[in-house]
Order: sequence, then C-alpha cells, then structure tokens
Amino acid sequence: MICLGIESTAHTFGIGIITEEGNVLANEKDTYTTKEGGIVPIKAVEHHMNCYEKVIKKSLEKAGLTIKEIDIIAFSQSPGLGHTLRIGAMAARSLAAHYSKPLIGVNHCIAHLEIGNMTTECRNPVLLYASGANTQIIAYEAGRYRIFGETLDIGIGNFLDSFARELGLGFPGGPKIYELANKGKNYIKLPYTVKGMDVSFGGILTNLKQKLKSGQYSEEDLCFSVQETVFAMLLEVAERAMAHCDKKELLLGGGVACNKRLQQMAKEMCSQREAECFIPKNEFLVDNGAMIAWLGIIEHKAGNRTKIEESIIKPYERTDEVEVNWR
Ligand code: ATP
Ligand code: FE2
Repeated sequence: MICLGIESTAHTFGIGIITEEGNVLANEKDTYTTKEGGIVPIKAVEHHMNCYEKVIKKSLEKAGLTIKEIDIIAFSQSPGLGHTLRIGAMAARSLAAHYSKPLIGVNHCIAHLEIGNMTTECRNPVLLYASGANTQIIAYEAGRYRIFGETLDIGIGNFLDSFARELGLGFPGGPKIYELANKGKNYIKLPYTVKGMDVSFGGILTNLKQKLKSGQYSEEDLCFSVQETVFAMLLEVAERAMAHCDKKELLLGGGVACNKRLQQMAKEMCSQREAECFIPKNEFLVDNGAMIAWLGIIEHKAGNRTKIEESIIKPYERTDEVEVNWR
C-alpha cells in the first residue's frame, strides 16, 4: 500500500509518498518565503498554484512511481489558512477522482504527532507541538489526542516571526533569531506568562517592542533572552503534563522544534525526570507531505475514507475534535 500525501495548510506546498511499512519514498516541497514581512495569504496561494504540478511530478520521479501506482491520496483537510488549504484539497480531489483512488482528509496537527511516533519509535508520549500557528501540549487519553495546555493567543512560531519582523528580518524568522541568540550573553528580564497549563506570548511581544524602541539592549541579547524565556515556559507546561499523565516520553513536533536550544532544554528536562526525549529529523518537524501521507496510511487501515462531497476544508478543526479510531 502506497499513499501520496498533500500538505498545504500555510506556507509550504509539500508532497510525500510513503509505504505502509513507513518507508518515505519522497518528501518534496516548495516553501513560500519573504525577505521582509510575514505571509500574505493571497501570495501564498499564488505560490502554491505555481508550484503544485511541479512538486507532484518531482515527488513521483523521486519515488520512481507513476500516479497509477499510488494506492491512496491523503491531504491536509484541517486546520490552517482557508486560502491555501483549498489548493491542496483541489489537487487531492482531482487526483482521487481522475484516477479512482480512495481519498482521505487528515488533521495536520495529528499528522505532526504521528510522523514523530513512527520515525522515532516512541510509544506513548506527551507531544510538545510548537509550530507557527499552533502551540499545544498533547497526549492520548481515552480515544482522543487531548490538549493539556496551549497558547491563549498567538502560536510560538508566529510570535518569533513577528519579533523577527520587528528586527527587519524576513520569514521564517525562527532560524534567524536562533543565529542572533547564539551571539547574545546577557539575560534581560522578560515577562514569563504561564497561566495554569496555558501560555501566552502577546504581552512578551509588546514588552520586546518597547525594549527595542528604547535602544538600551542589543538585538543579540534580546534574542537570547526571548529563547530562554519562552522555551522555559513551554517546557514547564510539558513537564507538568508528563507528571499529570504519568508519561515517561516527550516528543517534539512542529517547525519551532528545529531550534537546537529548545531541543537541548527539552533533553535536560527529560533527563532530570528520567524520561526519554524524542526528536524527529528537521524534515519531519517542519510542515511536510510525508506526515500527511503517513496519517493517510494509518487512517486507511482503520477504514476511514473521505467522500469527495465531504472533502470540504475545515480551517478551524481542533486536535481534540478528531476521533482517534486507530490506536
Ligand atoms: P502549523 O500549521 O502546524 O502551525 P506552520 O504552518 O506554522 O505549522 P511549521 O513548518 O510547523 O509550519 O513551523 C513554522 C515555524 O517554525 C516558523 O515560525 C519558523 O520560524 C519556525 N522554524 C522553522 N525552522 C526553524 C529552525 N531551524 N529554528 C527555529 N525555528 C524554526
Ligand atoms: Fe505544521
């Protein structure tokens, strides 16, 4: 059984091809970036429209397959930017209808989790899902992936990208902040906003803008202090979820989890509580088609199918709305 998965929730148009044994035959993508400023949804649509045929072709070539040899078509049906989700859904419906293949619409956040489960071989983790639009602490309990804590305002990646924009850096800003942070030495006190199991970043962003404007602090020190503060917030709630659920595994997911400092802090926290920390390769942390294809395989085995007339996108679907019938 081979599945082709289509990812288009935001900046990345990705195609992954994977076997039911979990062999990734192709994982191609084209990502919309900017030199200055954030994502303009209509520009991201233009980007995806211009590249989708090319990315599909390239992934099939890489896998050494023709479209007829693909058994299942999966696509990210939720959540994300409506504008870009529609492009992936359209491509998926056309391929499924034209070549008479089963179609499976999947939840993008759960795909981040399942590709991590598969590629790292962890069994029953707490997931720290830190991406652009999402920041959630998730664990499986009684038929659902439950959200134990999350951001009350913006996602951590969007927060880092917004701060990068204030510094005149382009999108994505996360890697650039990491570079600057490595040159910072002095910790500058910032608001630390953990509320119960939730976190919030809006106030920290306002505080950072004021500090930048004052001209009293170096950009390097600010980047260093931002990382130390917000990553500590994430790991505080992740650790509490691990204690509450009595889980001994932490899995990282989402583009921000590529950050080496976050990885290091996560490993330290886990070793202190004799837990294991699992970190997928960068290729599977950022948005990618392979994770969509893999969830397609899992859901297909569980008997899930999406009829064309039910394949409408769901930009606001939450992780815990999905009934998990495959565990
Ligand atoms: P989602 O729809 O799941 O919220 P997303 O569309 O935001 O995901 P991801 O690729 O999961 O996409 O995450 C993007 C974020 O990851 C951006 O904010 C970007 O700055 C950050 N990022 C990407 N690579 C790195 C890196 N190497 N170091 C730090 N941050 C990174
Ligand atoms: Fe994502």
